[in-house]
Amino acid sequence: MVRLPHLAVHFVLVALSLCSLAKCTAPRPGFQEILPRVDTSPGESHFIDIPLDHFSNSTQTFKNRFWVNDTYFEPGGPVFLFDSGEQDAAPLHPYYLQEYHGLSAVMRLAKRYKGLAILWEHRFYGDSLPFPVNRNTTADQWRFLNTEQALEDVIFFANSFGSSHRNDSSAGPLALSVHPSTTPWVFLGGSYPGVRAAFLRIRNPETIFASWASSAPVHAQVDMASYYMAAERSLTRNCSADWVAVTKYVDGALKGNDQKLKDTIKQGLLNARQSGPGGRSASRSLEESAQISDLSAASILMDPLDFYQYYGFAATLLPFCNLLETRNLTADPLEGGLASRFGVETAFRAFLVAIAELDYDSIPRGADDPVTDRSWMWQYCSEYGFYQRGDATNPLSIQTSLRSLELFQEQCNSAFPQGLPASPQVENVNKYGGWDMNPSNVLFTNGEFDPWRTQGLASIEVNSPQRTPSVSIPQCNVAPPNSSFFGLTYANMSASTARSPRSSSLRG
Ligand SMILES: *[C@@H]1O[C@H](CO)[C@@H](O)[C@H](O)[C@H]1NC(C)=O
Ligand SMILES: *[C@@H]1O[C@H](CO)[C@@H](O)[C@H](O)[C@H]1NC(C)=O
Ligand SMILES: *[C@@H]1O[C@H](CO)[C@@H](O)[C@H](O)[C@H]1NC(C)=O
Ligand SMILES: *[C@@H]1O[C@H](CO)[C@@H](O)[C@H](O)[C@H]1NC(C)=O
Ligand SMILES: *[C@@H]1O[C@H](CO)[C@@H](O)[C@H](O)[C@H]1NC(C)=O
Ligand SMILES: *[C@@H]1O[C@H](CO)[C@@H](O)[C@H](O)[C@H]1NC(C)=O
Ligand SMILES: *[C@@H]1O[C@H](CO)[C@@H](O)[C@H](O)[C@H]1NC(C)=O
Ligand SMILES: *[C@@H]1O[C@H](CO)[C@@H](O)[C@H](O)[C@H]1NC(C)=O
Repeated sequence: MVRLPHLAVHFVLVALSLCSLAKCTAPRPGFQEILPRVDTSPGESHFIDIPLDHFSNSTQTFKNRFWVNDTYFEPGGPVFLFDSGEQDAAPLHPYYLQEYHGLSAVMRLAKRYKGLAILWEHRFYGDSLPFPVNRNTTADQWRFLNTEQALEDVIFFANSFGSSHRNDSSAGPLALSVHPSTTPWVFLGGSYPGVRAAFLRIRNPETIFASWASSAPVHAQVDMASYYMAAERSLTRNCSADWVAVTKYVDGALKGNDQKLKDTIKQGLLNARQSGPGGRSASRSLEESAQISDLSAASILMDPLDFYQYYGFAATLLPFCNLLETRNLTADPLEGGLASRFGVETAFRAFLVAIAELDYDSIPRGADDPVTDRSWMWQYCSEYGFYQRGDATNPLSIQTSLRSLELFQEQCNSAFPQGLPASPQVENVNKYGGWDMNPSNVLFTNGEFDPWRTQGLASIEVNSPQRTPSVSIPQCNVAPPNSSFFGLTYANMSASTARSPRSSSLRG
C-alpha cells in the first residue's frame, strides 16, 4: 500500500473564474511528493553534460542532474536507476536514496543485490533545464522536450557513467566501473517514469537489462474520458446514482437559458467550495457568482475527485459519499440514493453541503511548481494527449461534459501558441506497442482503481486487449505469451508505485 501521500500540485482548489495555467492542466501521471521538505541535508547532487539533441551532430549540451548512493554497492553488483519523471527530483532524494522513511524500493533492491542506487532527473524539470522554463520558452526550445530525446538521455548517461572519472580517486561512486556491457542496469519508475521503464527495455535492451514499470499508462490516447472510470467504478451505488444525476442536472442547467437558475447554481457551487467544515460559511453574492464561467462552476462538482488519484477511494470519495448520502450525517442512507426518492434538487443541495463539509485543508499538498506544470503540459499537448474530458454519452459519467476535447486542445494552443502539432502526436508514443507491447524482463504493477490503469497493460476498458497479469516469472530475455503480461494488479489500490517494497518479484 502506498503510504506516502502524492499530489499533483496544480490541483489547488481555489481558482475562481480565470483559468490559470496551473488550474487548467490535466492531472499528470507522475507522483508528487508533498511531504514537508525534510531537514536532513540534501544529498550531494551531480551533473552530467548531455547533448541537447541526440539525433543531430550539434555539439550543444546541457547539465542534467542525478544522485548516487553506493552504500550497499559491491563490485559486480547491478545498478538500480529510479526515474523521477515529470517533477523536480530534489525533494524525492531523502525518501528514495537516503531512506528517510525506511527502505525505498530502490534502496531495498540495492541492499538485496549489493547494487548502486541512482536517482535520475528528467530534462526540462528541476535543475535539469536546457533553457529557462516559463512563458517565454520558445517553440524552438520546447522541441527538445520529447519522448525520444528524454529516453536517449538515460542511455547516454548509462553508457558514459564513470568514464570521465575513471582514475580520479576523489570521485567516489562517480568513478565506478558499471558499464551496461558488464553490469545489469535496472530501470524503475511509476506512472510516466513507468512508461519510460517499459519503452527503454524495448528500445535499448542492450543497455537496460530489466525494468519495473509501475502504474504505467503505456498506451497514449488523445481522448482519455476513461480517467474517471476508475473512480466511477469504486463508488457505492447510491452515491454513484446521485453524483450522475447532479452532474447531469448542473450541466443541463448551465447549458440552458434560465439565467436565474444558472446564477443560483453557480452561487451554490462557489459558496460550497469556499465554505468549510463545521458549517463555516461563505457568502458570494449572486452577481459575483454569475461572473465565473460555466466550466469553472461545473468543475466544482469534481472537487472531491481531485485527490482520488493519490489517496484512493477510502480516503477521498468514501467520506464524501457518506456526507452526501446521510445528508451531513443527519439521516440514514438510502439504497437508491437521494435523487430517486426526493428529486435532484435535494440531491444537489446535499451535494453542496458535502463539498462544504469535506475537509480539504486536512489533505496535505505541496507548493505549486510552475516549471513542472508547464513542461508536463508541453509533453501532453505535444505527444501524450490524455485529455481527461467528460463523456456525456457515458450513462455513469461523474465528470462535467463541459470539459470537452476541444477545451483541452484550446488550452494547449493558448499555452503554446507556436510549435504544437494540431493534435498530440500519440504515434510517437504508441510506436512502442501501446497496449500490445510485450517486452521481456519487465514487471508491470498496477492498482485496481488507479485512473491510469485504463491506459496501461492491465486496462479493462472495452477497446483494450484486456490482457491478464501473470506472476509466473518469465525466462530471462523471453517475453511472456501475448495474452498476458508479467506483473500484478493490487486489489483496492488507487496506485501502485515502485516505492512499495515488493522487490522480490523483480527478477530478470
Ligand atoms: C553527422 O555527421 C556525419 C559525418 O559528417 C554525417 O554522415 C551525418 O549525416 C550527420 N548526421 C546528421 C543527423 O546531421
Ligand atoms: C545512502 O544511503 C544510506 C542508507 O540509507 C544513507 O544513510 C546515506 O545518507 C545515503 N547517502 C547518500 C549520499 O545519499
Ligand atoms: C518574458 O519576456 C518578457 C519580454 O521580453 C519579459 O518582460 C519578461 O520578464 C520575461 N519573463 C520571464 C519569466 O522571463
Ligand atoms: C586511467 O588510467 C589507465 C591506466 O593508467 C589509462 O590507460 C586510462 O587512459 C586512464 N583513463 C582516464 C579516463 O584517464
Ligand atoms: C453539517 O453538520 C455539522 C455537524 O452537525 C454542522 O456543524 C454543520 O453546520 C453542518 N453543515 C451544513 C453545511 O449544514
Ligand atoms: C449508501 O451510502 C452509504 C453511505 O455512503 C453506504 O454506506 C452504503 O453502502 C450505500 N448503499 C448502497 C446500496 O450503495
Ligand atoms: C505477439 O505480438 C507480437 C507483436 O504484436 C507479434 O509480432 C507476435 O507474433 C505475437 N506472438 C504470438 C505468439 O502471437
Ligand atoms: C477492499 O476495500 C473494501 C472497503 O474498504 C474492503 O471491504 C475489502 O475487503 C477490500 N478488499 C480487498 C481485497 O482488500
